[in-house]
Formats: sequence, C-alpha cells, structure tokens
Amino acid sequence: MISFNENKSIWTLETKHTAYVFGHSPTGQITNIYFGTKLLFRDDYIHAVDPGAWAPEYPDRAVNREEFMGWGETKYAEPCLKVQFPQKIRDVRLVFQQYTIKADTLTLLLKDAYFDFYVSLVYTVHEEYDLIVRRVLLENKTTEPIIIEQLLSGSIYLPQAEQYHYSYLAGKWAGETQMQKGVIPGARVRLESRCGTPSHQAQPWVALEPGCPATETQGKVYFCALAYSGNWNIIIEKDCNNLVRVSAGLNTFDFQWYLKPGAALESPALFTGYSASGFGPASRNLHAFQLNELLPVKHRTALRKVLYNSWEARLFGVNEKDQINLARLAAPLGVEIFVMDDGWFGERHSDRAGLGDWSVNKDKFPGGLKTLITEVNQLGMDFGLWVEPEMVNPDSDLYRAHPDWVYHFPHRLRTERRNQLVLNLSKPEVREFIKGFMDRLLTENNIKFIKWDMNRSISEPGIMEVEEVQQKELWHRHVLTFYEIVDYLRTKHPEVIFQSCSGGGGRADLGVLSRFDQVWTSDNTDAFDRLRIQHGFSFIYPAKVMEAWVTSEYNQLNNRILPLQYRFHSAMMGNLGIGDDITCWSPEQMAEAHKLINEYKEIRPVIQHGSQYRIDRIPGNMLAVVYVSKDKRQAVLFVFLHINQFYNSIPRVPVDGLDPDAQYRTRYTGEVMSGRALQEIGLKVSFKHNFDSALIRLEQE
Ligand code: DGJ
Repeated sequence: MISFNENKSIWTLETKHTAYVFGHSPTGQITNIYFGTKLLFRDDYIHAVDPGAWAPEYPDRAVNREEFMGWGETKYAEPCLKVQFPQKIRDVRLVFQQYTIKADTLTLLLKDAYFDFYVSLVYTVHEEYDLIVRRVLLENKTTEPIIIEQLLSGSIYLPQAEQYHYSYLAGKWAGETQMQKGVIPGARVRLESRCGTPSHQAQPWVALEPGCPATETQGKVYFCALAYSGNWNIIIEKDCNNLVRVSAGLNTFDFQWYLKPGAALESPALFTGYSASGFGPASRNLHAFQLNELLPVKHRTALRKVLYNSWEARLFGVNEKDQINLARLAAPLGVEIFVMDDGWFGERHSDRAGLGDWSVNKDKFPGGLKTLITEVNQLGMDFGLWVEPEMVNPDSDLYRAHPDWVYHFPHRLRTERRNQLVLNLSKPEVREFIKGFMDRLLTENNIKFIKWDMNRSISEPGIMEVEEVQQKELWHRHVLTFYEIVDYLRTKHPEVIFQSCSGGGGRADLGVLSRFDQVWTSDNTDAFDRLRIQHGFSFIYPAKVMEAWVTSEYNQLNNRILPLQYRFHSAMMGNLGIGDDITCWSPEQMAEAHKLINEYKEIRPVIQHGSQYRIDRIPGNMLAVVYVSKDKRQAVLFVFLHINQFYNSIPRVPVDGLDPDAQYRTRYTGEVMSGRALQEIGLKVSFKHNFDSALIRLEQE
C-alpha cells in the first residue's frame, strides 16, 4: 500500500506489519522519516519528522536522514552516489521532480540541479512479505559522458537506541555462512566482496538490532539483502548523533562506470525488511518471497528432486561404464536425477587441463553422452551435467587458440587459481562461444539439470578492448553478462533446472536465485559442519534452494566419522542429494538409505514449501529446527545432539510454529500434545550416543 500526503509531502509505504515513510522538503530534498512497526493512523508518522533534519551549516550536529545521499556539500557520510560531471564538477545536487505510483511501485524522479542527469528511486512494496525492494536508475540525458564513481541501491535509518547490535554471515571455502554478531561501533563498518562473486567470505546481507540483541522470537530486527552476484558492499555507520545508517549496493572499490550520453545504469535490487518479533519472521518473510515470487517461474512450484552427484565418489575419474554402474545403484535407492560432475570433457583428468574444451572425452565415453543418458533415463532418472563456462585452463585447446580471451593486464603475470583463468565476458566472441557450446549441449542431449560452477575469483581485471576510463566497469559487466547468458539459455531450454555453484557456496545471492533454481551450499559435506553452515544460510535462503548431500562416513576435512542416519538427517533439512561412492555401501546401508530417501519424499513438501523455525531455546550442544506446513497440519522436527558432557540431561525441545489450539500426535513417542504445550513444554527426545539425531513428524489429530 503506497500513499502520498499532499499537504505534508510525505509518502507512506505500508506492508502487513511495517511502514516506511519519507518526504520531500519545499526545496526538493528527500528525507527519510520512519521505518518500523505499522501504526494505526497514517498521520502518526508525521510526529517522526525531525525539523532540523538537515542543517548543512552545522554538519556535526545535523541529523542527516537523506533518503539517497549524493556526495557534495559538507556531507561526509557514505554517499549513495558519487559522480564526475563535465566541467570538472564532482558534486551531486539532487532535486525532486515528480513521482508516480503504479500498483505496488513508487518511483521518484530526481534531477541534478544543473545537469540533465536523472535519478529514479524505485520502491516496490511486497505487502504480504513485509518487504520493500528498492533499486535506482541513473540516466544521462546530457550530451557529454558522465563518470559514476559510486552507486548504492539505498540507505535505511535505524530508530534511536542506547546500543545497536548487528548480525552478518561470514566464512570461507568449506565454511560458508557462519553467523557473526557484534555491537555497532561509533565508526564505519564495511561488509563486502571484491573478488567478482558474492564470495565465500561474506553474504550480501546484514541484520541490525536496535536496543537488545534479538532472538528468534523477540526483538527488533531490520535487515537488508542485495540481489547481486558480484562485488557488493554494505556500509554501517553510527555517527556522532548516534544515528545509524545502513547503505548497500555495488562495491565502490575499483568501480567506475562511463555513462555515455543517452545511457542508463541500474543498481542491484536491495531487499529491506523489519520484524518486531525477532529473526524468525524476518527470515520466513524472505523465504516466502523467494518461494512465491523470486525463483525462476518455470520450476518455482515444483518440488526439488533427490539427486545423485558423482563428484566426491569419483572426482575427475568419470567414465561411461562406471557412471552407469553408479546410476544402476542410485536408481533403486530412489534417486531422481543423476548428475555427472567434473571430468567428462576434453583432456580433463585433473584440475590442470581441459577446462574450455567442452566436447565429450571419447576415451572415457565411447558412446558420447548419449549412452549414459539413455541408460540413466531408462532407469527412470533425469540426467544432469556439471559445467564451468566462464573459465579456461591454460592447458586447453581453447586457450592455445585464444590466449587473449582472458582478463589480464599486459606485462603482468596471469595469476592462476586452481590452474585456471577467467574468460573475458566483455568480448562478444567469448559470450557467443559460451552461449553456443551450452546451447548445443542442451539441444543435442536430454539434459534436465545443469550445475554451473565458478571455481576461482577474478584477478588482473583488465579488458584490452575498451578505453582506460572503462576498465573498472569489468566487475559489473561480468555479472551483467553472466546474467545475460544464463537468461538466454533458460529461455531456450526452459525445462532444464539450473544450479549455481562457486567452489561451494561462493555464488549464492538473491540475484542468482532469480535465475537459478537452487544453489550448492558448500564443498564441506561433513554433516556436523553443515549444520552450522545451513543454520547461517537459513537466515536468508529457504531450504528448497539449499542442496545438501549425504557423503562418506569418514569425512577427511575434519577426520570425523558420522553415522548414516545423522548424515541423512542433516542433508534432509534442504534439497536432499547423495554424493558418496555408493558402490561401497553395504546391503544394510543401502536399505537404510532407501528407507530414509522414501521418508524424505514423504516430508519434502513440508521441508521445501513449509515455514522454517529455528529453535534457539536449547543448549549450544544441540540443534533443532522445525518445518511446518502452510496449513499447520504437519510438522517435521530435526534434533541433533553434538557432544554431551558432565552427565547433563537432555532438555525437552520446544516446538514453535504450530497451531497453539490444535492437538498434534507424534509417531516418535505416540504422545498427543497441543501446539501450545509443544511450544511451552516441548518434546522429550532421546539420544543413544554423541552425534545422534532424531527426525520427528507431528501430525494434527
Ligand atoms: C567445486 C564444486 O563445489 C564441487 O562440488 C565440484 O563440482 C568441483 N568444483 C568440480 O571441479
């Protein structure tokens, strides 16, 4: 719901539970007024107007709540926009021109006070999900080029509080999305990626808690998430007036965009939201939006299938006979998609060679891909394939033919990572090469699933075919071209499911998830480590997009041995896959796996389409998550015990999210309890040993 108060010049954007309010001054400055709980009377928001909101003559005392701050005057906070105009003018003076409201979208048009340079602030209100999605459009209507040095998608302002806490997700390869918590200092904090993808090191998301730190069910939580698959930054500032401003958008580091006359540049979409009842509703709103509105529409409502992936079983050592053997064992387990990972093409026997030579290796696959795919299909499974289209090994026919097709600086070493270089997507011939081989692969073979990998970040970011002034466009151009190629392929091959992977979870973000159906969460498949990675992941993304495999009993990353049921339960919390060498599984293990896969198929509508509640009222040596169906008739609770000590007893596990007045029966103990009792008293769960787990199904009577 969007409204405009003509008398006060105030726009009010209301969702189910929240309101976002800003207005314009008589001189055309846009000032943020309020973000928080929706109030009963719209006029109430006016009380939040700060008459001294912007006092340029007293910069230290001014409370600058500018909605979209351009750099200039005495504004020393992080600007959303920094520009080099012609005539050596480097500051921005934006003046409000007009607004339009179309359905759920409000667009404000601002113009530079002198130049024909326009800025549109676009806000789309997703009422049901308590979300506002914002983006910014720059248009150069002058006759000369304008250089954009910084473009953020917007800022939010937090209400006054004594203290501010923040939560963010940091990590590394094999340890992605680990929740971090801190107190916002009286300084500028920057979360970012500079490597060309969202990165393993941080997620483009932050949550801010004015006052006390929030829990799953209590406390104020403001959050922002960027839908962008490249270099991003989120800047948190607490100024001398205790004002907290959070701004997010394209990373300013090594960024510059040469905006030609008549050209436009759009910022990534920024998702913002607020929950008055802790983290739970904040992430459930984000999940529901992705499930109902954001994921690619073709496969949006379909349940994700159980897959098998050959990577951990065979690494690069794939061949026709062995893959068929694995497929014959996978099918009776209940696997629905058989995915062949790396190693099937060119001279790809290790990570040293072959990337870029996308024709099937005939020594390994004498019948081409056809023989394997036909067998997989006859076994009743779909076939999926791994590719890494943006990359090349120097030891490849592609690189030998086109050494100039990679990002590089002249006279400098081309730094290799995993023995590979990154293709220069700015070159039209590179774009056509990728589109061409991918299109052929998908046209000539019955492929229903693509795992699109990217195993290194960008270095030596030079593109020789454009002028110096455009060199720093590379980072953003790479992302836009990657999107363009994927969009092209998805339009031509709509039946194919696409998975985003980047050496694990390096390219998981809301931008990728508007184009890919799911993501590979991490190369770390240790079921215990995964619980923590998955926990962090769940603050932004729903279980349906989180691919998780059951791999070997002994995990070499941590030298840990974990039981099969525990490994299954951990992977069943997302989109279940099997990634182990199943030729080594005993008949008993095969039977147990078959039973658990069947169980997963029964509960997956609740896991993939239900609502997720993280239970935070249990000790740190346990983890519990419950998934509740939309109608609240069914729920699935997972409980894990890590290590017990000191003869401690296991507490009952509270179950959130149920209908408090309904009665639920659990097959686990046969008990019948009301939803309220389950929440307040909880369920008794027994464990036999460390690293034990329980999957408890609850059904309404
Ligand atoms: C990294 C991925 O995350 C793995 O799952 C696997 O696909 C390898 N790349 C293949 O090279």
